[in-house]
Amino acid sequence: MTDLVGPDARRAPDGSSPASAPDDVRVRPARPADVPRIYDTIAFWANRGRMLVRPMPNLYENVKDFFVAETVDAGGTATFAGNAALHVLWGDIAEIRGLAVADGVQARGVGRALVERCEEEARAVGIPTVFAWTYEVGFFERCGYRLIDKTRDLHPRVWSECLRCPFFVGCNENGVVKRLDGVPEPVDLPEPPPTQVPPGIR
Ligand SMILES: CC(C)(COP(=O)(O)OP(=O)(O)OC[C@H]1O[C@@H](n2cnc3c(N)ncnc32)[C@H](O)[C@@H]1OP(=O)(O)O)[C@@H](O)C(=O)NCCC(=O)NCCS
Repeated sequence: MTDLVGPDARRAPDGSSPASAPDDVRVRPARPADVPRIYDTIAFWANRGRMLVRPMPNLYENVKDFFVAETVDAGGTATFAGNAALHVLWGDIAEIRGLAVADGVQARGVGRALVERCEEEARAVGIPTVFAWTYEVGFFERCGYRLIDKTRDLHPRVWSECLRCPFFVGCNENGVVKRLDGVPEPVDLPEPPPTQVPPGIR
């Protein structure tokens, strides 16, 4: 699949930077040493009701899903600016999770750069559809996502992840989805296991 190699040809040796990030923002794969900052950034917004908190053990276990954005000043000093993760759910879908831009760095293109890096990763592994749960539908729409009807249009694997969420009952997050251009649907994809939605919950 030709999509598999294109983006990586632009990548620096440390794996940083999507081509379209603003000049002073770069995105690189997260390292375990980033976890405390990632935890604090998510917790900051979670405490304000903007996203769900992520326990630190969960962040370490999933650190290889994460990317870190940094702003870089004229002297080349990098400062943590945010994080996002791409978590593969099935052979045809991956979810953006843990997207959080550090307080004070909003509206500089950091969020978009993180989303684009997640999409680039999805392309690199041949995943054609990217999904996210969010309260920030307007932001995702600016990134090319569309709002879906979560009572009808969810991929079965998204549902089964929901069943593990403590906020499954009464969830008021919105589902947004983007079909990535040029990534073919995988062939011979196994059927996901049937989702077992508890009776009375919709
Ligand atoms: C939502 C969030 C990720 C956006 O990141 P950001 O770096 O401020 O956004 P960007 O500067 O990359 O904005 C990209 C575009 O989206 C628009 N945008 C940003 N936030 C928006 C919002 N809340 N509503 C509508 N549009 C928004 C910007 O105006 C910009 O538009 P453009 O296409 O005209 O340039 C960030 O504010 C954040 O971390 N919020 C708190 C945590 C959170 O809500 N996380 C999302 C969980 S899924």
